[in-house]
Amino acid sequence: LLRRSPRARIVNVTSGLGSMTRMTDPRDYFTELPANLGYAPSKSALNHITVQYAKHLAPEAILVNAADPGPCATDFTKDFPGVTRTAADGARIVVHLATLEENGPTGGYFNEAGLVPW
Ligand SMILES: NC(=O)c1ccc[n+]([C@@H]2O[C@H](COP(=O)([O-])OP(=O)(O)OC[C@H]3O[C@@H](n4cnc5c(N)ncnc54)[C@H](OP(=O)(O)O)[C@@H]3O)[C@@H](O)[C@H]2O)c1
Repeated sequence: LLRRSPRARIVNVTSGLGSMTRMTDPRDYFTELPANLGYAPSKSALNHITVQYAKHLAPEAILVNAADPGPCATDFTKDFPGVTRTAADGARIVVHLATLEENGPTGGYFNEAGLVPW
């Protein structure tokens, strides 16, 4: 169905926790979080899958990007303190990447503020 679409887009919903740069930057609060052996590496893997699919689908002009919604209040975060952004806030970057123009980016990792470091 994507191949039959005139403007196919793939948006992988990742997380800032998948950023190895942020996770190892001593200035980032991520470095103070306890070890996360499953979720964070799964998102790093998803980021790499995004890059490889972007290469694979480039000849067909299918744009593939990873969206970091940032922290938002959902069932997933109901036990996390201080999360004030809503699911609608988190969805904005996903919708943006799902509706990119033809010359839009592919193989990128984005949040609402722009590029996220890998
Ligand atoms: N919330 C955050 O702060 C945050 C931050 C960064 C990234 N993310 C990412 O954003 C995405 C959504 O997270 P969320 O916070 O909205 O989580 P959530 O409230 O737990 O919602 C997860 C959704 O995924 C569905 N789901 C789970 N397993 C599924 C399966 N096997 N097949 C089909 N659907 C399945 C659930 O459906 P049911 O309700 O029917 O079970 C639910 O609608 C996740 O990829 C998460 O890693 C979230």
